[in-house]
Order: sequence, then structure tokens, then C-alpha cells
Amino acid sequence: MDYKEYFARYQGLIPDYEAFLEYLKSPMPQYFRINTLKAPSESPVYQKVLEEIQKQNLKIEPVKEVPHFYRVLNPNEVLIGNIREYSLGFLHSMTLTSSLPVIALDPGPGEVILDLCAAPGGKTGLMAMITEDKAIIVANDKRLDRLTGLVANIKRLGITCCITTRYRGEQFPIGLQFDRVLVDAPCTGEGRYRVGLEGEILYQKGTGKANLTAVQKGILVRAFDLVKPGGIIVYSTCTINPKENEEVVDYLLRKRQAKILDWGCPLPFNPGITEWEGRPYHPDLRLTKRFYTHQVHAVGFFVAKIQRLV
Ligand SMILES: C[S@@+](CC[C@H](N)C(=O)[O-])C[C@H]1O[C@@H](n2cnc3c(N)ncnc32)[C@H](O)[C@@H]1O
Repeated sequence: MDYKEYFARYQGLIPDYEAFLEYLKSPMPQYFRINTLKAPSESPVYQKVLEEIQKQNLKIEPVKEVPHFYRVLNPNEVLIGNIREYSLGFLHSMTLTSSLPVIALDPGPGEVILDLCAAPGGKTGLMAMITEDKAIIVANDKRLDRLTGLVANIKRLGITCCITTRYRGEQFPIGLQFDRVLVDAPCTGEGRYRVGLEGEILYQKGTGKANLTAVQKGILVRAFDLVKPGGIIVYSTCTINPKENEEVVDYLLRKRQAKILDWGCPLPFNPGITEWEGRPYHPDLRLTKRFYTHQVHAVGFFVAKIQRLV
């Protein structure tokens, strides 16, 4: 299907829709973060890392809104994964918006945190960095092949506060009560889509996701059951589809006693919607946040911060 046909259903939803369509034709901007577990901020090591990577011809620009994130200005000339400092764990490549679910979760040292869909560990690594490797992070994923990459990243980044598990999120064992749970759910990934020269959609996933909304709802309800009363859950996806976003959070609000919280967001966002295709959602869904690629210059995202009430 042609991209204009595909995205037409979101025309009334996405602000500056024509600019959005146009933006899809450009390559996705690339970002990385400096890993302050290995290069503490304001240390000589941090400065040395910045100097060394630029000597290897990487042209970079700091992102003023999100600490320690840098945009790569010449991604066609240098691959971050080939930079020496990457192998040494001083850098981690991740899209800018991938930081937002972690910023919303706001993890702290000493807390017990569950990352239910964690591989390959971009957000796990950022949580470990923000908590200075002093939380207990359980990083779970359903897929063993992806867990292998997660473990490699944890090791490379010098993280010691993390253990890994392999469960379906919907069936993660009830027992431990977590302070915070992140559900960075499997999704259609529409926020990553780009457009090729003939109008074809690039980076579109296959069709093996028929029950995706059901899976997302199952994982989010289990996340609620795993967090302690008063604890925080963040639900995020990199897709635009309200059926994978607001509808999933709305489902939780109908099934459990939960409340959507606002949070201080460093990037431009649009409020979540309270109706889609004739179906009304809870009015508090407006407190969830939508991020579109042409506004944030990164992968499109959806983030909901939720509190378990009882
Ligand atoms: C969006 S990706 C997670 C990205 C990761 N949070 C990061 O920042 O690097 C979603 C992950 O969910 C995993 N997944 C899919 N179905 C799952 C399920 N039922 N339970 C737990 N994980 C699942 C996939 O293997 C995939 O790694």
C-alpha cells in the first residue's frame, strides 16, 4: 500500500499532516547517548570520549533538552557501532524519543524496577544510568534471541544492577512487588516508518501481529498486578495507532483502579486522544502524550504514565 493511502486514517489526528508526510521521505535522524556509568558527567573521561569520537570523523551536536544525548550529523559517513568507544561501552545508540518512557518512569536508586519488554535494552541501560547502577532492575523479554543482545549490551555498558528473565509479559510470575514497571510494548512500529522513492513504506513489520492489541492489554494488566499499590507503570509504544495506545490504557482503567499522571516532558508533544473511530476513551487519556516524527525529529512515540491506586 502507498504511504499516503496508509496514513490517510491519521489525517485528522496528526498536526501539520502534510509536513508529516513530507518528513517521512527523509532518513530517520540518528542519536546516541554517552554512558555516564563509564564516563561520569563533567569528568575528564567524558570530555575525552567526546574528543576521541570526533577524531574518528563523527560529527555531533548535543541535544539540549535531554542530558547526554547527541545527534549524529553525518550518519552516512560513520557507523556508530564501528566507533571504538562504542565497543568500550562509552556510547549507546538509541533514538531520542526512546529516552521519554524512562524520563516519565523517573526511576530512583534503591528501587526495584521491572522492564517487562526490555530487549535489546536501550531503556534498561538508561534506567541503570539514571539510577547510577544502584537500583535493582529486572529486565525481561519473551524472545531468547533478543535477550542475548540485551545481555551483551548490559555487559558492554558496565551495568551490574540488572538481572534478566524470559517470560511472556502477560505471565510474568506474581510475587515480587515492584516500585516501578516499564511496558515498552511490542507494536506495529508506525513511528519508525519511512517512505521510499516510489512511495513504498520502509521498515514496515510483517503481519505476524494479528493479536497485538490483545497482547498489549494482557501485558499492561499484568504490569499493574506486579507493581505495588501507589507504584508507577509507564506504557509506551513507537506507533501512532490509537488501538495500540489510548485503547490499551483505557482498557486498564476499566479493569483496574489506576490513574493517569501528567509528567514534565522535555520534547514537544500532543495530548492523547479521548475518542477514536466512534469509540470514547476515559477523559484522562488526554494526559498521555503523543510524539510525531516531524515534530521531534526522531522515532514517533506514545507514552502513558499510570499510577496503581490500590
Ligand atoms: C519495542 S521492543 C522493546 C525495546 C526495548 N524496551 C528497548 O528499549 O531496547 C518490544 C519487545 O517486546 C518483546 N515482546 C514481544 N512480545 C512479548 C511478550 N508477550 N512479553 C514480553 N516481551 C514481549 C519483543 O521481543 C521486543 O524485544
